[in-house]
Amino acid sequence: MITTGPTYEKIDPVRFIGNFSSGKMGFSIAEKLADEGALVTLISGPSACQTTHPNIHRIDVVSAKEMYEASIEHFPNCDGAIMTAAVADFTPLNPVDAKVKREKSNYTIELTPTKDIAASLGKIKSEKQFLVGFALETNDEEQNAQLKLEKKNLDLIVLNSLNDSGAGFQHDTNKITIFSRSGQAKVFDLKTKKEVAADIVDALILNQNF
Ligand code: CTP
Ligand code: CA
Repeated sequence: MITTGPTYEKIDPVRFIGNFSSGKMGFSIAEKLADEGALVTLISGPSACQTTHPNIHRIDVVSAKEMYEASIEHFPNCDGAIMTAAVADFTPLNPVDAKVKREKSNYTIELTPTKDIAASLGKIKSEKQFLVGFALETNDEEQNAQLKLEKKNLDLIVLNSLNDSGAGFQHDTNKITIFSRSGQAKVFDLKTKKEVAADIVDALILNQNF
């Protein structure tokens, strides 16, 4: 199972809080795994990415809540999960049914935290299942990534740093470091997301001894 893309959190019928995630990294990993013969459940937030691969079953979701519900439903039937989605950390507490008008002198939106999907799967995963997370960091990258690996009970975490030009949101390239539970780190060069997907799948196979 793979989660990918951004989530959109509704403010009113015409507005949302979102982020710049394109979904490219998750779609690239899905294609790579499907090419290797895996049956992939791809849970995607709003993304322009397309796939016609017969081994990929795409489930479209919009909000963090919908992504959480789809993930919890499908994870028990999967060998593992790769969490590439840029899930909103906060969502409007009280989305309104009618469009908010501009005649306000000021306007505050109260936000409430979303559920951590990766951490929730980390709590229910069996010994046979693997869980891979991503971390996008701007500072103390290595330390933050390793903390997330522990906290969410992941087997591997893929760090991409916003400080590396050409890496992260909207780019066709990415520069990653993969950390395993044993504390090992593997640093990769700047590559296309297709090549990065192959590196991640290789690291997963090595780590799990499939
Ligand atoms: N993640 C998730 N559900 C969330 C938030 C994050 O599944 N509600 C997953 C992401 O898909 C990623 C990993 O957790 O695989 C780390 O996401 P990241 O945003 O880097 O970490 P957070 O735990 O949200 O912490 P912060 O944004 O405060 O750094
Ligand atoms: Ca986050």
